[in-house]
Amino acid sequence: MSISWPVKERELHNHHINSEIWNDIKFREDDIIISTWIKSGTTWTSQIISQLVHNGEAGHQIGELSPWVDMRIPPLDVKLPMIEEMASPRILKTHLPVDALTFSPDVKYVYVGRDGRDVAWSLYNHHSGANDLWYDKINNSPGRVGPPIDRPNPDVSKYFDEWLEKDGYPMWSYWDNIRTWWEVRDLPNVEFFHFSDLKKDRPGEIRRMAKFLDITIDESKWEDILLHTSFEYMKANASQAAPKGGMFWEEGARVFINKGTNGRWREVLTPEQIALYEQTALKELGEEAAAWLANGFLD
Ligand code: A3P
Repeated sequence: MSISWPVKERELHNHHINSEIWNDIKFREDDIIISTWIKSGTTWTSQIISQLVHNGEAGHQIGELSPWVDMRIPPLDVKLPMIEEMASPRILKTHLPVDALTFSPDVKYVYVGRDGRDVAWSLYNHHSGANDLWYDKINNSPGRVGPPIDRPNPDVSKYFDEWLEKDGYPMWSYWDNIRTWWEVRDLPNVEFFHFSDLKKDRPGEIRRMAKFLDITIDESKWEDILLHTSFEYMKANASQAAPKGGMFWEEGARVFINKGTNGRWREVLTPEQIALYEQTALKELGEEAAAWLANGFLD
């Protein structure tokens, strides 16, 4: 049976993103692409894959070694050669919906999802902890498309309302990302993971990731891999994981590796807000995908 591969249908531009860069990427067969909506465990997944690739060695600066390709800073003419010079296997990140991505049948895509309420909570922390340099880099860099990003509403509950009402605000559509990836989840080079499942069974999920990536785990390094992918280790070594060592956050890299928990919204959101989120998820995704997004695959 012939496979119908995703085809790019549009470009996506905003204060953070320039999807066009993917048009010029020369794919390599062993490229590994991590795809998420932001704040869904992207960095954690980079660390896991880096640990698998580097056999549990400590000290890899994954903040630098696994670039976010569609982030529009630095500009294309700087970033493309940088990506070209990376050693194989490259670990590349995207936060695009599939229909705005130049999709390759030859590389592997690790998709990670996280409940929108957890994502919004994580985004609020990321956004409210950002310093003036972050706003300057994003809003004043040449070629910005669309409005600048504003300071966040200081009330997390109102921040969430706006995120839900304007679908992903102040970033881009959350539902488009989940829906378009869910539609291609059965492709042979796409494998789905969930933040909650990584929390429930990190060893099992790391082994599943290794299998998908055709990486044989060196069992003598297994304990190192587990240690280096734990929240405690990543928090203690946050400057290795955060972009530019955490220089864009008032309190540094530890803001980026924040709490590593789900459900913090439960103490804040009203039953009405929760119901509205759940109705929106159902409407946007349908029952099966909405259930997965809320709980992951594991019980
Ligand atoms: P919180 O802000 O809820 O703590 P991303 O890398 O996509 O931006 O995702 C960031 C989220 O992943 C943050 O969530 C961060 O704390 C969490 N995270 C990073 N490393 C983790 C780990 N080893 N274990 C659990 N959560 C982790």
